Amino acid sequence: MIGFLMILGTIFLILFHSIWNSTYWSRQGIKGPIGIPIFGNMFKYLIGKRQYGLVYEDIYKSYPKASYIGMYRVMNEPAILLRDTEMIKEVMVKNFPNFTDNVLYVSDKREDLIFCNPFVAKGDKWRVMRSELVPMFTPNKVKLSFPHIATTCKKLDLFITNFIGDMPFEAKDLCAKYTLDVVASAAYGLDGQSFTSRTSDFTKLVKELFMPNSLSLVQTTALLFLPKLGDLINYRYIPTKVQQWLFTIIGKVISQRRKANDSSNGDFLQWLIDAKEKAGESVDEFTIVGHCSTLLIEGFETSAALMSFALYEFAVNPHIQKKVHEEIDEVMSKYEGKLCYEAVLEMTYLEAALYETLRLHPPMLALLKHCTKPFELPAQFPGVKLREKVLIEEGTVFVVPVQAVHHDPVVFPEPHKFNPDRFSEENKRQRANCAFLGFGEGPRMCPGMRFGLAQSKAGLVTMLMKYRVQTSAKCANPLEISPTTFLTTSRNGVWLCFKPRNL
Ligand code: HEM
Ligand SMILES: *[C@@H]1O[C@H](CO)[C@@H](O)[C@H](O)[C@H]1NC(C)=O
Ligand SMILES: *[C@@H]1O[C@H](CO)[C@@H](O)[C@H](O)[C@H]1NC(C)=O
Repeated sequence: MIGFLMILGTIFLILFHSIWNSTYWSRQGIKGPIGIPIFGNMFKYLIGKRQYGLVYEDIYKSYPKASYIGMYRVMNEPAILLRDTEMIKEVMVKNFPNFTDNVLYVSDKREDLIFCNPFVAKGDKWRVMRSELVPMFTPNKVKLSFPHIATTCKKLDLFITNFIGDMPFEAKDLCAKYTLDVVASAAYGLDGQSFTSRTSDFTKLVKELFMPNSLSLVQTTALLFLPKLGDLINYRYIPTKVQQWLFTIIGKVISQRRKANDSSNGDFLQWLIDAKEKAGESVDEFTIVGHCSTLLIEGFETSAALMSFALYEFAVNPHIQKKVHEEIDEVMSKYEGKLCYEAVLEMTYLEAALYETLRLHPPMLALLKHCTKPFELPAQFPGVKLREKVLIEEGTVFVVPVQAVHHDPVVFPEPHKFNPDRFSEENKRQRANCAFLGFGEGPRMCPGMRFGLAQSKAGLVTMLMKYRVQTSAKCANPLEISPTTFLTTSRNGVWLCFKPRNL
């Protein structure tokens, strides 16, 4: 009986807390949707119906005049959803010191390697980790790493000729094989064998890390909303098996190079070691393995998603594909058919098409920032003063709804039309800052952008030099987004066919 009363009491307390929370914003005079107990405004997400980024987009749309909206995340946690691009700039750029951390609930009790990843690291650790990684992505370093990309492009070309031909293929799977092999080679000088082996370590790793599975919804919820749920399911961002594998394999590469006294390798691992030695610091193997895991985790999936969505858009917009083909032919004939970094840089229309792809299909539908220093909210509606001064507490979540901004007709007219011309130099100059957020903005903007674009462009050029892409019968049109994953993934895959261009 007492046990029963205690359970009842706990439920009552949780409900009461949740209901009290749901008046948090109205008590301060901030407008927004009403939160329901437990679910807040995230009902459709929590029942596995709609990706979290799309739920943010729904809320964004219902207050078209506001610069931000007071909303409730899971368990009625109050959060601010940013709306206009000026306000996004305030948070991501101008007042960055008040919002230094990303919202990702990863526990240092369960894993340590992931805290070398700038995306996850906080405070000073973030600053150090980021500053060690950024020099890997200067134009010169990306150029030096290009031979790794070119070699992998040859493998990709052979694989398509020998194993795909005109059969339907799943584009993300094909592109992930390619980007994974590029990263394995460019980061550690290893052959990922994604094209030749179904059971290579790297292939298995991808399955562990990124495939949507029956636990995706629970894991995404633990990562983005409920640290306590993470404790309950023992959530790890990098599964233990993968961490062990990384230590073994990278440890081996490091010790081989030490033994052979060989520092001639042109890969990120070597440059990291060189940079440490040049600064007179000892080479701390843990951090090196940490950086290597960052390169792997951040390096392949976003680019593979970008490439596969670009192929999809080319398939459904043949007139754009034709322009891309023309540019590729022109530039490649200038470089006598040799794929090099300079050639890739010259393909500005292809680059604009990739930006446009990221606009329509951003890999992260929303970015989340923690308020790290109290922040005073400006007026919620232009010209209407707030009832009272509202000071946001530390720890409050600010949502940057990337997908919603990218699909807002006020920011991008005819938002569902695929039009690379939006990213011509002139149009880019005229647009508001923070309207395009495919790589984020401000001091935490993606440091790997240059490399990600280079590998994506090179892979696409390899495919489109010889082929046209078309959608196959299996392909959903428009694409549906998987409702449960952290990164944007197509629900049923992106199914396409190659047709030789000279037919
Ligand atoms: C085309 C491919 C890529 C896309 C679309 C992409 C997108 C993004 C986005 C949206 C963010 C969050 C930025 C923010 O919070 O403002 C990010 C962060 C990051 N990306 Fe990328 N990325 C790509 C490729 C890469 C590559 C190739 C690497 C490295 C190998 C990389 C490493 C990182 C890191 C380390 C961060 C965390 C930065 C920080 O918080 O300081 N990314 N990326
Ligand atoms: C390794 O090679 C460098 C030059 O390539 C040389 O200066 C150094 O003495 C060598 N170290 C060992 C342990 O052989
Ligand atoms: C950001 O934080 C600083 C330091 O706590 C504070 O002085 C400043 O007023 C904050 N910015 C806003 C807009 O509230």
